[in-house]
Amino acid sequence: MRETIQAHGGSLVNRLVTGTEREELLSIAASLPSIAVNKWTISDIDLIAIGGFSPITGFMEEEDYVSVVENMRLANGLVWSIPITLAVDSVQASKLKIGQQVALVGEHDQVIYAILDVRSIYTADQKNEAVKVYKTDDAAHPGVQKLFSRPNTYLGGPLQVLNRPKPEKFEEFYFTPAETHRIFVKKGWKTVVGFQTRNPVHRAHEYIQKSAMEIVDGLFLNPLVGETKSDDISADVRMESYLVLLENYYPKDRVFLGVFPAAMRYAGPREAIFHAMVRKNYGCTHFIVGRDHAGVGDYYGTYEAQEIFVNFTKEELGITPLFFEHSFFCTKCGNMASSKTCPHDKSAHIALSGTKVRAMLRDGICPPPEFSRPEVAQILINGMKEQDESLSESKL
Ligand code: ADX
Repeated sequence: MRETIQAHGGSLVNRLVTGTEREELLSIAASLPSIAVNKWTISDIDLIAIGGFSPITGFMEEEDYVSVVENMRLANGLVWSIPITLAVDSVQASKLKIGQQVALVGEHDQVIYAILDVRSIYTADQKNEAVKVYKTDDAAHPGVQKLFSRPNTYLGGPLQVLNRPKPEKFEEFYFTPAETHRIFVKKGWKTVVGFQTRNPVHRAHEYIQKSAMEIVDGLFLNPLVGETKSDDISADVRMESYLVLLENYYPKDRVFLGVFPAAMRYAGPREAIFHAMVRKNYGCTHFIVGRDHAGVGDYYGTYEAQEIFVNFTKEELGITPLFFEHSFFCTKCGNMASSKTCPHDKSAHIALSGTKVRAMLRDGICPPPEFSRPEVAQILINGMKEQDESLSESKL
């Protein structure tokens, strides 16, 4: 039997309303005051709906928000490191009262995504939120920039979700946590390691995934496909690259590919905890945290996203983090390695920065095969060319 994996907090949340109840709520929602929600917020609504963010059932009320920002815990003590909030214009908020309902409507598609029961209206200290969650209030940090671009009035309360966003592509790789739980059981996997990524899978990623695969039954390759910063490689191109990699280099019965539709926060250590909790909800028993997980620029130390786990006990995490050192190809060893396994100095190591690799790919140059599988590099070169062309066309 599979080790029983419980969702964070005990049971998977399901806030999706279906059938006649949904029809009724949709007609009620049409006459409620509406709040326009963007793509990021829609992805939060969806992850709340399907239980990816269990035990969270809606946007955080003030008590949870303060507790998460200050203590990395919900008000009830459960581990949670990233605020999940709904920011609204203060003029709009001033017209709302605690106890009423509002409809959350897509800003571009006018779809009614959810009804929020307004239980809390509060003003957030966003500078404090930035310093505590992102460890900086530098507006150049992409997560902080997003935070500061939102109003500082937040609405909190439970959601009833009436519509889910429709993926534009790769719909077959979208699964709910209930579905992935079932799939892992069906595959007979007792232990599953989750892998978060916002990048193509290069050799270092492959090396740490496969090292983990040596000790667990299956790998859940779970790339984040929600909003990322503009210079990250697009999710569509990345998906093509994952497929070609899996086809050529991974045993089919040991890997499962499914997307994580969340927005990237770039909150480094705090986001590593958040990523681990969400993967627990998807049914993983283990979670990979490598170098500078969810980091950006020089805001976090190389292993800070691993060190933060000491703040929590094994029991309260309920998922085992697997930590990996900075990995690289060593020309003297003739294999992938890290400082734990390689005695040679840096001159023998092939390590390229993300910026450098993106520049090479843009120029149509394949990074060395010791850095990236040639099939992957080719997809990235083609994909980035198309991306650049469509960008420049849209600027015309
Ligand atoms: S992240 O923002 O999603 O963390 P990325 O996709 O680059 O970025 O990383 C995915 C996972 O691989 C993270 O756990 C990260 O720490 C790890 N990782 C990335 N590159 C390396 C490397 N060279 N050595 C060890 N771990 C790495």
